[in-house]
Amino acid sequence: MSSKSKLALCGGAPVRKKPFPSWPIFGQPERRNLLNVFDSAHWWYGAKVKEFEEKYAAFQNARFGVSCTNGTAALEIGLLACKVGAGQEVIVPPYSFIATASAVLKVNAIPVFADIELDTCNLDPRDVERKITSKTKAIVPVHFGGLPADMDAFKKLARKYKLKIIEDACHSWGTKWKGKGTGALGDCGGFSFQMSKNITSGEGGILLSDSETVAETARSYSNCGRGKGKTFYEHFLPGSNLRLTELQAAILLGQLERLESQTNKRDRNGAFLDHGLRGIPGIGLMRRDPRMTRRSYHVYIFRFISNEWPGVSREQFIKALNAEGIPCSGGYPIPLYKNPMFRMRQGRGPGFCPISCPFYGKKVDYRHVVCPNTEIICKEACWIFHPMLLAEKNDMQDIINAMSKVRENWKALKNV
Ligand SMILES: Cc1ncc(COP(=O)(O)O)c(C=O)c1O
Repeated sequence: MSSKSKLALCGGAPVRKKPFPSWPIFGQPERRNLLNVFDSAHWWYGAKVKEFEEKYAAFQNARFGVSCTNGTAALEIGLLACKVGAGQEVIVPPYSFIATASAVLKVNAIPVFADIELDTCNLDPRDVERKITSKTKAIVPVHFGGLPADMDAFKKLARKYKLKIIEDACHSWGTKWKGKGTGALGDCGGFSFQMSKNITSGEGGILLSDSETVAETARSYSNCGRGKGKTFYEHFLPGSNLRLTELQAAILLGQLERLESQTNKRDRNGAFLDHGLRGIPGIGLMRRDPRMTRRSYHVYIFRFISNEWPGVSREQFIKALNAEGIPCSGGYPIPLYKNPMFRMRQGRGPGFCPISCPFYGKKVDYRHVVCPNTEIICKEACWIFHPMLLAEKNDMQDIINAMSKVRENWKALKNV
């Protein structure tokens, strides 16, 4: 066996030695905007934040944008603006970052987990319908990794059962469903600008909506309960201070200048990877719904289909890929409902929803929750992070070559 075909993990030559692009990417636009804000001596919510809110909302084809401190806060003010509260159930996927479910707890509502689809990692509308009860108030579909959830199906359910839709769009900057950006496809949607995200100011977030009422209510919750056009020391809602600063907006405006071309590049490279990886035995790709008119990639996800690699674990496969010079990780290790927050029965004492919410009138025991597809995905998903998709076609070819090489030599992994 030549050292080229021998796995790097077994002493062969790796497919690749060059690094992939690093993150974050920044430059002159961010420097210029930051200096402008420094010199203006106005660092607090003002013209730059407003400019960013308008430009970002337009980028996602939404009417209104309400910026805030992070994606978690965006989901919380979105839920509050949709009047989700104590004793109500909100259907969420268990394959997500904790904020998707914890935001529901923070507004004193009860997260109900519905399963995901194996070929999208997004909420399965059929399981969502099965989980709807007379207490259900809202659905929070996550556009996982940037792949849009089936918004037609969720909107149909929302109409049928009179539910609100708060999109967790924290991975989907630039994703379009039938030509319209995510975020305002439902009632509202939250985005994150945290450091790892495709547009970032270190921390930051925004809620988008096409409804003026939802946007104004969310603004009030994010701005100490103040009212539009009212005086500074009048407070109408029990809000928080969740405002973004001018300095963060200066960075985001710079980042936004690159977002369109970066999104298109990742989308092209993602399609190239799909084409090259399709047909490799034991690898499952995500489905590209024709109603998705552009896909943003926060992560490129594929499945390591365990039963097609007998005797080899996903962790061994990832180790082999890493040794070939291809960064890749396994993502979330457990479904959200297996977190101690949900497993511990007592919660924080009386009044802690959902464990002892006096308004709920039902008992929840998350130890009995099982979403089979989510359990599979937590064991089989492999994540390639978005900065890698900003490289060139020959770099994508390296990923394809490395995965083909690992598959061709997979039996050698049983001995390492
Ligand atoms: C799917 C999802 N929702 C919500 C969030 C929360 O965003 P933030 O970290 O900005 O609060 C994240 C962050 O990683 C996320 O991945």
